[in-house]
Order: sequence, then structure tokens, then C-alpha cells
Amino acid sequence: MLEKTSCCKVNLLLNILGKRADGFHDLETVMHPVALCDRLVFERSGAGIRLACSDPRLPVNSKNLVVQAAALFAKTAGLGCGDGVRILLQKHIPVAAGLGGGSANAATTLLAMNELFGHPLPAGKLEELAATLGSDVPFFLQTKPALATGRGQIIQPLEPFPALRGVSVVLAHPGFGVSTPWAYHQLANFPSSVEGKPGRAQRLINLLQASLAAAAPEFYNALEAPVLRKYPLLELFQEFFRENGAPVSLMSGSGSATFALVPGREAAGTMLEKFRVKFGPGCWTAVVPSNS
Ligand code: C5P
Repeated sequence: MLEKTSCCKVNLLLNILGKRADGFHDLETVMHPVALCDRLVFERSGAGIRLACSDPRLPVNSKNLVVQAAALFAKTAGLGCGDGVRILLQKHIPVAAGLGGGSANAATTLLAMNELFGHPLPAGKLEELAATLGSDVPFFLQTKPALATGRGQIIQPLEPFPALRGVSVVLAHPGFGVSTPWAYHQLANFPSSVEGKPGRAQRLINLLQASLAAAAPEFYNALEAPVLRKYPLLELFQEFFRENGAPVSLMSGSGSATFALVPGREAAGTMLEKFRVKFGPGCWTAVVPSNS
């Protein structure tokens, strides 16, 4: 039996540089790991791939990225008919939230399968498989902050950012999800959001070597244009966090999760209590140390 945690991310910056011929978008994004984690348990058993999940709303068939990752691994590694696996997925990360929970689960599954079956695949092959499962999946094969380019699958790991030392990540989820393909599709109505100038990611990375206050104006997410237009509540979340002293508040990925960066755990806790009073129990919230 093999037990693994599978943690999520926020995008500190997501700059879209253009639309590609294959329908994806070229981007530069700064991804930061967040220690809010799902738990996965893997066990070799009989034939086939069987998934059980704590959240009954999630599919446990080949629609689930965990099953897709295990099947792709089995095929690529040439596992035999008797090389089955039983997987238990305990969800804590909100779904369709822009936090990369499903992608993280897929990456964790690739790593766990490789461990469970005696490391038949080298790291480079796992990276290749991860990229075919989803643009975000390669990031989760490693644990550092990273600059991601291409469609998000080319990962350059970075050292923890000094400006985020002692900073808490406050997460808020409105209780509904946003579809990633929908968000990207809507960009057709927001042409300037698809014409980002390259270099913004590196500028933010440079500023994060010093102070959060100096870096704050550089945080940016091009997908906010379509998503906030449709869901103005998410804009109210950001306004609330800024008015209550957060130097940074932004949507993560394609949403619907909003995050705020707050110096100090106590200030973050107080802010969250006020948030709950204002927005009510329908919203999911969490405070996580940035680990930088
Ligand atoms: O790669 P992933 O499966 O996460 O992508 C989901 C959808 O998001 C894609 O089908 C595409 O519509 C959109 N997408 C995009 N450009 C990216 C990443 C995702 O257009 N760089």
C-alpha cells in the first residue's frame, strides 16, 4: 500500500501571449504550490484500475484524470493483465476551482504507479505522459514554485520567493465551479487579454525576490476578464480582501477560486472570519501558509 498527498497551486500571474493553431493558448504563468492537499492511497490488486472517491459528485470511471493517468501509465510501461491497482481518492481541494486539484491527482498517480511497479519509466517519460493528460499536470510532478510556458506544460522550477516568507494564502471558493475550456473560449470576446506582452512573469519573479508590497501591482490573470464579467461575485471577493488589508487578491487559473496573500497567520485568520460573516456559509474558505 502506498499513501500520497496531492497538493494544489495558485497562479500568481497568468499572461496569455496568443492563440495557437492547435486551439490552445501560449502563456507564461507563475505557479505556486499550496499545501491544501487531497490524499490518495494506492494498492496493487488483481486486474484493471478501480477508483473509489470520497466525493460522490466525481466520476470514478475513465472521465476521472486519476483513472486516465493510471491507464496511460499501464499502457506505456507495458504492465500485464494481472498488474491491477486499487486507488482511493480523498478530496479536500475544491473541484473546477482553478487550483489544479484534478491535475495534481493525475501527477500523483503517475508518480505512485511508477513507485508501485518498480520504476519502469524514467522521469522524462513521466513528464511526457503528464503533458498529454493536461497542461497543468507536469507542474505537479515537482514541488517548487515554477515558471510555466508553452501551453503551461514547460516547467522551470524556481526557489521559494523571499517576498512570500511568512505570508499566508487565503482561499475562497464561491460554491460553484468554472469550466476551463469555457473560460478560454470566452477570450474570443476579450482580444486584448490574448495579446499579453512576454516578460511580465519574469518581472514578477524578480520583484518577488524583494518585497510583497513592491511586487503587488504585477500580479495578473488574463482569464479574469471573461470570468469576472460572468461572475461579479468573484470581483466582490477581491474587493473585500483588498479593503481588509490584503496587498494582493486574484483569481487562480480559470477560477472560481480567489486567493489573497496576507502577511501573518493571525491577520489572515481575522480576515477570514470577517469574510465568512459577510459572504455566508455557502462559500468554502481556507488559510494555508505559503511555505516560502
Ligand atoms: O490542458 P487542459 O486539459 O487543462 O486544457 C483544458 C482546456 O483549456 C483546453 O481544451 C483548452 O480549451 C483550454 N486551454 C487553452 N490553452 C492553454 C491551456 C488550456 O486554451 N494553455
